Amino acid sequence: MIGQGISRTDGPIKVTGRAAYSAERQDAGPTLHGYILGAGIGKGRVARIDIAAAEAAPGVRLVWTHENAPEQGPAEGIEGDMMDRTRPELAGDRINYYGMPIAFVVAESFEEARAAAGLITVEYELEAGAFALGGFGPDLNWRRPSRAGDIDQAMREGPVTVEETYSTPYHFSQPMELHACIADWRDGHLHLYLTAQMVNQLTTGLGKTLRLDPSAISIDSAYVGGGFGSKIVLHCEAVLASLATMALGQPVKLMLTRRQIFTLVGHRPASISRVRLAATPDGQLTALGHDALIQVRTDDAWDEGVSSVGKALYASPNRLTRQAHQALDVQPGEPVRGPGELPGLMVLESTMDELAEKLGIDPVELRLRNDTQIDPDKRLPLSGRRLADCLREGAEQFGWRDRPTRPASRRDGRWLVGYGVASSMRGHYQTSAEVMVRIEPDGWVIVRSDMTDIGTGTYTIVAQVVAEALGVPISQIKVELAHTKHPKGNGAGGSWGAANTTVAADRAAAALRARIAVVAGTGYNDIFAEVRRHFPDGIEETGKTLDNKDDPNYRTHAQYTYGASFAEVGVDIDTGEVRLRRMLGVFAAGRILNAKTARSQLIGGMIWGVSAALQEAGALDPRHGHWVNGDFAEYLIPTHADIPAIDAIMLEDFDDKANHLGVKGIGELGAGGTGGSVANAVYNATGVRVRDFPITLAKLL
Ligand code: MOS
Repeated sequence: MIGQGISRTDGPIKVTGRAAYSAERQDAGPTLHGYILGAGIGKGRVARIDIAAAEAAPGVRLVWTHENAPEQGPAEGIEGDMMDRTRPELAGDRINYYGMPIAFVVAESFEEARAAAGLITVEYELEAGAFALGGFGPDLNWRRPSRAGDIDQAMREGPVTVEETYSTPYHFSQPMELHACIADWRDGHLHLYLTAQMVNQLTTGLGKTLRLDPSAISIDSAYVGGGFGSKIVLHCEAVLASLATMALGQPVKLMLTRRQIFTLVGHRPASISRVRLAATPDGQLTALGHDALIQVRTDDAWDEGVSSVGKALYASPNRLTRQAHQALDVQPGEPVRGPGELPGLMVLESTMDELAEKLGIDPVELRLRNDTQIDPDKRLPLSGRRLADCLREGAEQFGWRDRPTRPASRRDGRWLVGYGVASSMRGHYQTSAEVMVRIEPDGWVIVRSDMTDIGTGTYTIVAQVVAEALGVPISQIKVELAHTKHPKGNGAGGSWGAANTTVAADRAAAALRARIAVVAGTGYNDIFAEVRRHFPDGIEETGKTLDNKDDPNYRTHAQYTYGASFAEVGVDIDTGEVRLRRMLGVFAAGRILNAKTARSQLIGGMIWGVSAALQEAGALDPRHGHWVNGDFAEYLIPTHADIPAIDAIMLEDFDDKANHLGVKGIGELGAGGTGGSVANAVYNATGVRVRDFPITLAKLL
């Protein structure tokens, strides 16, 4: 069963509309409806707010502002785990970012709540905010340095050097399913139906905010319509819906609008990078430097690790990667699809292309010459380092040898045609997770875990692994996920969910087999018959994974996944319009659990890479701190018409250092350096190097 490309087990109920997403849940019965009024300025305070008309409007049950909202746990500093922090709402008159909630209305219908919110009048006291990311100043406070040798001297010695400044814009996760919560306060217990990538993790911060013991909170996220990082941290919909149901004693539903998600859910911070590379004439790197200036908030610690990809991608005797922060008055940054790596690889892999061009060495060959089996940062052996295999296999299958060697040298009608390549690398993490597997005498196997399925196929791969481990058909396995009452893991995030959950499930199944073998031997035909005979009440076991730092294999080996992407683009000779013509990604990410869902996920990631190279950019108004293009009309992401036939190949792989199943994560690997391959293809087509992403037509003309 493991590896087979079966269709997802939850596919039929999803495509027939029977899988209820948070806002569709009926468990709590009829609900009241909330609507958030967001601040219309970027920085300042609410001088006066008048809610009388809203309170008198039809259907309205409650109107809160900072003047009458319930007391909550106070905001906490940036020290400590971002997952455990409070998130008080309507807690004061300060406005820290555009769209920040300044009032909350609950009414009998969504329309009544929204209409009433429109009757609230507000007077603001405006303050000047900081909304523009500047250049590199002289007095930067460098963080997270990773260093070897002397990069400044290596840059002076060259002989071939590249030193360039690149910038990457704000990105938004924007999953298809809007962030929503139904909160139901009943008999002293708070039940939440919430769109979340991690459930147990949210009860600490939410409990402190609501002044409730975490054990009095249940979160159920049975079906989640995409996350991309945006459903990891605690957001206002959970807090405000919870406060309202506790005040009114009736279930309350709060779903954010698409526009609100641009302000009430965090973005990927913008960045400016200075990349320095030096090499010998035969293409051996002698210096690799990546300084990244990252947008943050003063009261927030989200540090988009743009420079971190340079730590372990290539060997270089002289190396320096580091981050500096600039605080702006926008909402806190958050994980967005390959945090750090997506922008970082796009930048670094573009610079590698610049170096290849200067050296006159083929870009694939340059990467192969700087491969390493030792993590240059951690100085540990890299387990499953198959970057070179990905590059070679991709070059072969893509037909890289036909690449135009001179930029702007190939025409196809009105299109200039170019090829580009880039490497991908993504950290593989293991966290502590528990999964319970139970064999019922009536012929069912039940698997329970608080892991979520954010559209990636968790229900399916967990069933596959348990089916194989117990030798039972997949149709007899019921996988129950995404509820705080189930054994705790670390949810879907950081690309760790699949490996954590399946490895723990497999260990639980192995423990069950061992117990059954004691009484029934190993030669039985029907595991359920043995369970009926020897364990009439059924039998269950819990399997575990250890956290990185407690697992010896993670201390002795640096664990990553790898990929290479190859892109062909056409650029319109007159308009500068860029069209992707074809694309191939080759990946080595350990043993693949399901060839179909894995390929789908990798292709999805590759499309986000194309998006980052050519389309996505949050435009922040530098005067007011307002997201100018905060909707799907103007925040561009690829449609089907933007993406031709693309393919992802997974190398036959098994990483025995990762775990006994040989499995690693693939969630964020697909995006990886994909944007870099598109950018390099644009350069190859045109001879124009755009260093300010995304590459839009105006920048090419
Ligand atoms: Mo991922 S951005 O950790 O969901």
